[in-house]
Amino acid sequence: MTATAQAPAPVREAIVANGVARSFGSVRAVQDATLTVPAGSVTALIGPNGCGKTTLMLMLSGLLRPDTGTITVAGHNPSTDAAAVRAAIGWMPDQLGSWDNLTCLQTLTLMGEAYRIPRATARERGLDLLERVHLIEFANRPARVLSRGQKQRLSLARALVHDPQVLLLDEPANGLDPRSRIELRTLVREFAAEGRAVLVSSHVLAELDEMVDDAIFMSQGRTLGDDAAAMVADAKTRYLVHALDPAALQAALTGADVPFEAAGEGVIMRFVDEQRAAEALTWLVQQGVRIHRFGPAGSALEQTYMAMNEERR
Ligand SMILES: Nc1ncnc2c1ncn2[C@@H]1O[C@H](COP(=O)(O)OP(=O)(O)O)[C@@H](O)[C@H]1O
Ligand SMILES: [Mg+2]
Repeated sequence: MTATAQAPAPVREAIVANGVARSFGSVRAVQDATLTVPAGSVTALIGPNGCGKTTLMLMLSGLLRPDTGTITVAGHNPSTDAAAVRAAIGWMPDQLGSWDNLTCLQTLTLMGEAYRIPRATARERGLDLLERVHLIEFANRPARVLSRGQKQRLSLARALVHDPQVLLLDEPANGLDPRSRIELRTLVREFAAEGRAVLVSSHVLAELDEMVDDAIFMSQGRTLGDDAAAMVADAKTRYLVHALDPAALQAALTGADVPFEAAGEGVIMRFVDEQRAAEALTWLVQQGVRIHRFGPAGSALEQTYMAMNEERR
């Protein structure tokens, strides 16, 4: 049995933050963060090191008070209802800080007890979670023997001990090898499919690209808002198409008045959804154009990041 059966009831807008700010002395770590994180999907929080991601996540999880602004998590205000927020949130910090001498199962059982889950239940839940993150064979081994990727998975399991509706993962892919990253992506997608809200931060765009449904960009303590989201959505509509005979491809498109941009040897076409893309591919083949490459024009997040930087210049 896995923990899947215990998925919590979904809340549509799991996190809402408005005008949130926090300084440390003269350092304005977060200046103006406004965001919404829906349940049932994975949202990225992307920005360079030092832009305020960790500080923002600490405030969302109720571990740090904002100086100004409002936060609602699973319908509760972390400043006035910290206990309810803590119960609703699973927090995976960027540093595991594991209790190295405890076994993986002890780590999870103790964490469960910290959430006032009875020991026997916490232990059972710990076993379920270890199964789920593929660490069951390490249940009775000390956390210090785990590799980095395994420690990240233990940390993820620890964040899930109390079956939270909202998951905040701070740079979870940091330092993972490609295989571990793919496993992490699979797990994160599963959590979202169960109706949980997942907010996952990174300073490396490529880490998150295939893991997330939506992205919030952050720069110098500020979230960049709807413009960036619209850019991501727009970037997702771009397809790169290559034909054996590029001139024949362009001629077919021009002849049928289909808009395109030339891009090196190929062309960029836009499709609102996969259905339209499939129809266009069928049509091109019917026109006798010999297509050898047809797919998304590249990382939507990366294209957006680049477009944002271009705007700033
Ligand atoms: N406890 C703290 N005391 C002083 N400065 C801090 C503290 N936490 C973070 N900062 C500063 O706030 C800024 C944002 O940090 P952080 O939220 O960790 O960014 P990120 O997670 O995006 O790398 C940085 O300039 C950092 O040095
Ligand atoms: Mg950080």
